[in-house]
Amino acid sequence: RIAYVNGRYVQHNKASVHIEDRGYQFADGVYEVCEIRHGLIVDLPRHLDRLDRSLSEIRIRPPMSRAALVQVVREVARRNHVKNGLFYLQVTRGVAKRDHVFPSADTPASLVVTAKSTDPSVIARKNASGIKAITVPDNRWDRVDIKTVGLLPNALARQTAKEAGAQEAIFIDSRGMVTEGAATNVWIVDADGNLVTRPAEHGILRGITRTTLMDVAKKLGISIREREFSREEMLEAREVFITAATSICFPIVEIDGISIANGHPGTISEKIRSAFFEIAE
Ligand code: PDD
Repeated sequence: RIAYVNGRYVQHNKASVHIEDRGYQFADGVYEVCEIRHGLIVDLPRHLDRLDRSLSEIRIRPPMSRAALVQVVREVARRNHVKNGLFYLQVTRGVAKRDHVFPSADTPASLVVTAKSTDPSVIARKNASGIKAITVPDNRWDRVDIKTVGLLPNALARQTAKEAGAQEAIFIDSRGMVTEGAATNVWIVDADGNLVTRPAEHGILRGITRTTLMDVAKKLGISIREREFSREEMLEAREVFITAATSICFPIVEIDGISIANGHPGTISEKIRSAFFEIAE
């Protein structure tokens, strides 16, 4: 495998960054994960818009122009022969002597891009059978709208889920409301058949898959309510599913040991998922 690291294409197993990279010492960086399907990058402009926003929120200057970045991403996908898979892109504030305050403005940002193939049959299996989740208190900072590499609470939550025999952890805020998954956005279908998901203004990352799924639902004539919902409402929902670039739309059939919708993937999430693949192609 080949990775892009600060201007060079290098062997993945030999790729490295400096020990004083601020991403390593302070989690001072942001990232994107994008799906590659049939050799095409899904929703690339939206991912790059969000990257620009994340960078500007933490005041890192973009490492290169958008056109150059697109070139790098395509080249990494090409060199790794990825037809179906994911690419990962990370920008940090660069390498400097350890100091909490920013390094001088001429310190170049670090840019790393990798790509890997994924097995569509694994995703198909999870879609068909649904996955299990647990709920955990949302103990993250207030700026989860920025896609930073500071993912320790998310990693701990996913690990807790794994140890409980589940595949995702769903964060619950101090008011008992669902925020999002450890690496996904959460949706429910209410009793009237509306899609419900938390507004992106506070407490969640504005998922690109979330945005695209809204376009898909509109085309299908399914109504969307952007409002908060509680853990209790989720447990009683007609359907629960999660979205992310890595998983598109996974039905959840059990949460905290309680069956959702009789433990079977729902029909609305299935309909949306099929349409998603048609529209995105
Ligand atoms: N995570 N919320 C969180 C906390 C996430 O980490 C992600 C994605 C999402 C969904 O965003 P999108 O639809 O743009 O992928 C929501 C990526 C996939 C990851 O960390 O691997």
